[in-house]
Amino acid sequence: MSDVSSMRPTYRVTELLGDGIGPELSRAIHRLADALPIRLDFVEVDLTLENRRARGKAVYDEAVEAITATQVALKHPTITAEESPNAILRRRLDLSVIHRPVYTIPGVPTNFRPELYLDIIRIATGGTYDDPGRMIGDDGAVSLRIVERRPVTEAARYAFNLARKTQKIVTSASKYTIQKGTDGLFEKVVAEVARQFPEVAHNVELFDALLGKVIMKPEKFQIVLVLNEYGDFLSDMACGLAGSLGIGASSNLGFDAGAVVRVAMFDAAHGTAPDIAGKNLANPTAIFLALSMLLYQLGEISAGQAVRNSTLDLLREGIRTRDLGGTESTDSFADAVAAEVSRRLSSSHF
Ligand code: NAI
Repeated sequence: MSDVSSMRPTYRVTELLGDGIGPELSRAIHRLADALPIRLDFVEVDLTLENRRARGKAVYDEAVEAITATQVALKHPTITAEESPNAILRRRLDLSVIHRPVYTIPGVPTNFRPELYLDIIRIATGGTYDDPGRMIGDDGAVSLRIVERRPVTEAARYAFNLARKTQKIVTSASKYTIQKGTDGLFEKVVAEVARQFPEVAHNVELFDALLGKVIMKPEKFQIVLVLNEYGDFLSDMACGLAGSLGIGASSNLGFDAGAVVRVAMFDAAHGTAPDIAGKNLANPTAIFLALSMLLYQLGEISAGQAVRNSTLDLLREGIRTRDLGGTESTDSFADAVAAEVSRRLSSSHF
């Protein structure tokens, strides 16, 4: 008989190894990947603090080279010490857009009544975050606010393409009435892109009003397109509302001149959780949702759906790690998701 595994479609994926709970999450990812009907060939790059301190810039050169070659990467959490690996990789790979889906998970407790399902598309550079500011004399300080046409265009095209594919509404939000130059340019560029997608509904909101409306009428919002710091604030608020601060995942995207995704790095929103590292207690949900997004990016839609839905359905059934009130370990939860993914994909194929 022929070896079935050798006939599986194969994709190379850079795996950026991290600190704290990183090794446990990596183990969980490999258990899950083994259950997929495709083969993920992981190219590992060691981004642990120890290796970064020992090898310096060479570690990032290796990571950039690997990610450029494989085009997709899964990043485990890393300690931010001398530098932020995320910020360095975003800059060196020119990752201009962050996509963060945030949703309530049925059965996972939340302080918030209605269901929330937002796709936050955040421009990953500029805004007020590229300039730490400087003192003017002893009693004043200023900083630059930067908005550039190219990343706004890339983010807007990504948002409108997503809206077209999923038949959703795009809302852009800023303070264009006050920050007329910067936020005005943002809305102008978004409106230009919107004209290329006449079939997609586009609303404009003031950012402060949007925050209130997302809390009161979350069902009115689907894809929200915002500048850098607004995306940062909105993501954490939405995660808090969804009761899932620890289980969010994002993609960080870089584009070519034709607006096609050139490289994509997927990661969990949480950090290295040093308090539970090495104890087999880490919840791998966020990194599984990051893997699901990666599978969508590879075009493996049914595998991506199976990973996401199996993870969320098991959580709803009460199969959870301790941070969500359950009794599962990292390994046992990963095994349960892997078995469920395998069951779903084999029954849908045969
Ligand atoms: P954290 O997210 O690591 O931990 C906050 C709390 O959430 C802790 O009680 C932790 O046990 C819990 N937690 C986080 N992830 C969990 C998971 N998967 N399962 C179960 N519980 C989980 O944030 P903290 O403590 O502020 O940062 C710790 C380290 O992580 C720092 O060195 C920071 O620089 C780094 N960090 C790295 C990030 C990244 O690489 N993307 C993002 C955020 C922080």
